Amino acid sequence: MRLLTLTLLFITLGAAEDGLQGWLRYAAVPGSQNAIVPSQIVVLNATEGSPISTAQQELEKGIKSITGKAIKRRSAARQQSRAIILGTRDTFVKHYGNMTALSGLEEDGFYLSTEGADVTIVGHNERGTLYGAFEYLSRLAQGNFAPTSAVHNPQAPIRWTNEWDNLDGSIERGYAGPSNFFRNGFVVDNVTRTAEYARLLASLRINGVIINNVNANASLLNDRNLDGIGRLADAMRPYGVQLGIALNFASPQTFGGLPTFDPSDPKVDAWWVNITNVLYEKVPDMAGYLVKANSEDQPGPLTYNRTLADGGNMFAKALKPHGGVVMFRAFVYDHHISPTNWTSDRANGALEAFQDLDGKFDDNVVVQIKYGPLDFQVREPPSPIFSFLRDESTAIEVQVTPEYLGQNDHLVYLAPLWKEILEFDMRADSQPSKVKDIVSGKRFKRKLGGYAGVVGAGANTTWLGSHLAMSNLYAYGRLAWDASLDPQDILQDWIRLTFGCDEQVVSTITDMAMRSLPAYENYSGNLGVGTLTDVLYTHFGPNPLNTDNNGWGFWQRADHDSIGMDRTVKNGTGNAGQYAPEVAQMFENIETTPDNLLLWFHHVPYTQKLKSGKTVIQHFYDAHYEGAAAAQEFVTQWESLEGKIDQERYENVLYEQKFQAGHALVWRDAINDFYYNVSGIPDDNGRVGNHPYRIEAEKMTLFGYKTYAVKPFIAASGSAAIITTSNSTTGTATTNVTFASGTYDVAVNYFDLIRGKAKYQLAIGNRTVGEWVGDAEGKLGHEPSLYLDAHSAMRITFKGVSVARGDLVRITGQADGMEPAPLDYISFLPPGVVD
Ligand SMILES: *[C@@H]1O[C@H](CO)[C@@H](O)[C@H](O)[C@H]1NC(C)=O
Ligand SMILES: *[C@@H]1O[C@H](CO)[C@@H](O)[C@H](O)[C@H]1NC(C)=O
Ligand SMILES: *[C@@H]1O[C@H](CO)[C@@H](O)[C@H](O)[C@H]1NC(C)=O
Ligand SMILES: *[C@@H]1O[C@H](CO)[C@@H](O)[C@H](O)[C@H]1NC(C)=O
Ligand SMILES: *[C@@H]1O[C@H](CO)[C@@H](O)[C@H](O)[C@H]1NC(C)=O
Ligand SMILES: *[C@@H]1O[C@H](CO)[C@@H](O)[C@H](O)[C@H]1NC(C)=O
Ligand SMILES: *[C@@H]1O[C@H](CO)[C@@H](O)[C@H](O)[C@H]1NC(C)=O
Ligand SMILES: *[C@@H]1O[C@H](CO)[C@@H](O)[C@H](O)[C@H]1NC(C)=O
Ligand SMILES: *[C@@H]1O[C@H](CO)[C@@H](O)[C@H](O)[C@H]1NC(C)=O
Ligand SMILES: *[C@@H]1O[C@H](CO)[C@@H](O)[C@H](O)[C@H]1NC(C)=O
Ligand SMILES: *[C@@H]1O[C@H](CO)[C@@H](O)[C@H](O)[C@H]1NC(C)=O
Ligand SMILES: *[C@@H]1O[C@H](CO)[C@@H](O)[C@H](O)[C@H]1NC(C)=O
Repeated sequence: MRLLTLTLLFITLGAAEDGLQGWLRYAAVPGSQNAIVPSQIVVLNATEGSPISTAQQELEKGIKSITGKAIKRRSAARQQSRAIILGTRDTFVKHYGNMTALSGLEEDGFYLSTEGADVTIVGHNERGTLYGAFEYLSRLAQGNFAPTSAVHNPQAPIRWTNEWDNLDGSIERGYAGPSNFFRNGFVVDNVTRTAEYARLLASLRINGVIINNVNANASLLNDRNLDGIGRLADAMRPYGVQLGIALNFASPQTFGGLPTFDPSDPKVDAWWVNITNVLYEKVPDMAGYLVKANSEDQPGPLTYNRTLADGGNMFAKALKPHGGVVMFRAFVYDHHISPTNWTSDRANGALEAFQDLDGKFDDNVVVQIKYGPLDFQVREPPSPIFSFLRDESTAIEVQVTPEYLGQNDHLVYLAPLWKEILEFDMRADSQPSKVKDIVSGKRFKRKLGGYAGVVGAGANTTWLGSHLAMSNLYAYGRLAWDASLDPQDILQDWIRLTFGCDEQVVSTITDMAMRSLPAYENYSGNLGVGTLTDVLYTHFGPNPLNTDNNGWGFWQRADHDSIGMDRTVKNGTGNAGQYAPEVAQMFENIETTPDNLLLWFHHVPYTQKLKSGKTVIQHFYDAHYEGAAAAQEFVTQWESLEGKIDQERYENVLYEQKFQAGHALVWRDAINDFYYNVSGIPDDNGRVGNHPYRIEAEKMTLFGYKTYAVKPFIAASGSAAIITTSNSTTGTATTNVTFASGTYDVAVNYFDLIRGKAKYQLAIGNRTVGEWVGDAEGKLGHEPSLYLDAHSAMRITFKGVSVARGDLVRITGQADGMEPAPLDYISFLPPGVVD
């Protein structure tokens, strides 16, 4: 079975550029034939199915593919020329004697040297050897043949991904098709994708995968699935990736048939011990468990008035004899808090839940902490728990899948966000206490600790639903190994491996990616306002109305005069006081709070002056215009690479960048209109609410179309759109060009709903300008919408259309399924204008 898997992997290499190989394409590097690459390989222990055997096959395949040269296998005794020596420290020392460098190796670390007579790749363990092989290949694939000799050790032992796959085959917050692991309630039979995924992860030195959703289903533990879990673990093992599972706390009752799931009940403990033992029979190297308890309606120990530590330790004791660890999530909060209570605050929840528990968890429990106190927002301060827990091992949880950040249909390179959190100094006891040093275990001298990245990899060949989004998975793995790396350096390694070393390709994609997070922050929500996505529906498009006035606690507290969460101790929720004194003081004080977190910690008038001198409201308006303008530039930047990127990936990315450019305008207008509407304060630059190049669909002459009041009103220009009078009708909307004759980019804004593929045609002056179909739900991975709203709103643009004043403009829309060919407006944009 394992043999079959590996063979399959290699056959697919060199096939279409569909993203399947990610950054492990091993594209030919021109000129590398002359590079000094050994012609032989000596493998000190090539036991079938071991990570070393995998390393050997990767090297053989990769070097052939990159340099065109085959390398031959030799035993240590029969080596004739320069060779790659591949082994663990123990086998190496046995054959070649000791070497000082090797004494510096730590668990999972490796030594790579190309400087001596041979290329030496020695792992502390077998997985370390595989990491070394991937490192060598990464250098070759980037055309880097410079000599190197160094020991590489991880900063932390836990470098895992969390996959939120459901048993039914869906993936929570996944934007790339169905699960690779489950289907119809059971583990899949075909483990090829699992092996392919483990290969990508191993190349990033990720050593564990939680295969199922933290909102776990107890049926995972039925007999058929236990066998399946064993099968998945077998597929990952050749890559040194260990499997773990997320548990449902109530399993002993809902699945096991016990009358209770109280962790203090010996029968419940015994039940978990037994199931754990059975799991270790199937998966002898199982990584451990992930537990989400007493959060968002999940069951947990609090149900029985036991502490979270009582709950975590129950699993810890069952895992202990097997060497497994419990990742216990700190994401515990009440989602029914009262928005009218000025001092209630979801951001306080986690620390309150853990405040009496420091030191109460067993040694093999790691508290897994989301990077910020809320929920993966574009801008949050680090969670205060990082510096609060001194006697617990901790891990940072980040989201590689950008739930609130464009869902992989907006380009958002996340490494700079993670880096800023990791480098933040929490000042525990007034000592340097960077988050990265806390989670590595260094700061508080903990043995365990590390990284958990929620990935959402699906069955799509691109893994994440977007080629460019893979930069985030790549960067996550690199930072989990070494948080001191520079996000731009990581990015450029990824670009060279993914798209080649052409200088223009590297510099263009670098510029796009490095500007992408600031752009998204600018046009979605800036000044630390928190998410303005629709938190009650898909978390994709804007809907600031839904953030306030409900129990979920993503509040902005926006009223006619003022905005922001007062998290001060002196007059607010007291959240600033959860930080160590130096940090608390900085956030308590409006003068020392950075502008980009102003509205996170303070409630201020819209006219409050920022450090830049602008008012809050004018900053909002300007930032949304700047961010949306950057998104337009990403399209032209990408277009400048035509011919330098293979057609398949070029077209795929172009489609997404065009979508983002249009949707950034939806964001810009929705948020600006919203705050203009509540505050009544006009834009100094006269842009907000003023769109001279648009013709609203509802103002056109309609046949078979009717006006529709869009909710929320900010999702449509002029608050209204048009839909066909029935869902089997073809409608037309006509008007005459009122602009001067000339050449324009003509943009049509429409809504693309799920469950229908409406057809559209645009004709101007009796010429067909374009035809399109409302089929984005099959091309974009974001959560689709059933409604005309800011999730479904999008734009299509026809460039360089020459029109004459008075020309008849006619848009024809043919409804399909539940999609009534909705239209918002048409714009005639003079060259250089985007509106
Ligand atoms: C060779 O590899 C196998 C499989 O990983 C391992 O069990 C064994 O201990 C290794 N032998 C030596 C001498 O390292
Ligand atoms: C190799 O040498 C180092 C010191 O340089 C020593 O600590 C280590 O025990 C030696 N290993 C073996 C297997 O002899
Ligand atoms: C758990 O999974 C089973 C099998 O797919 C399914 O029938 C059941 O509805 C799921 N339970 C929940 C709460 O989702
Ligand atoms: C298993 O999955 C792989 C990857 O999706 C596919 O190429 C292969 O055909 C499948 N094998 C079988 C036996 O269905
Ligand atoms: C242990 O768990 C397995 C798998 O669910 C089950 O078949 C077995 O009956 C359990 N044994 C005990 C003693 O509960
Ligand atoms: C829960 O435990 C606390 C502290 O031990 C105790 O005061 C309280 O009465 C208990 N509540 C219930 C419902 O058992
Ligand atoms: C408001 O919230 C705070 C903090 O959660 C709580 O202590 C207080 O009792 C609440 N006030 C009311 C009136 O519910
Ligand atoms: C203090 O809190 C009250 C609500 O309790 C709020 O109305 C007021 O604006 C706050 N004052 C300042 C200066 O932020
Ligand atoms: C152009 O006008 C002719 C005659 O009125 C009509 O039949 C045809 O459909 C028109 N074409 C377009 C693209 O509007
Ligand atoms: C993969 O995802 C892309 C983008 O969402 C989509 O266009 C494509 O159809 C998907 N392909 C497969 C095979 O699912
Ligand atoms: C609008 O266009 C139609 C078709 O070209 C033409 O008959 C009509 O006169 C135009 N109306 C105006 C006001 O220009
Ligand atoms: C037409 O739309 C309605 C809702 O607007 C929906 O209930 C119905 O199923 C749709 N018809 C078809 C054929 O999709």
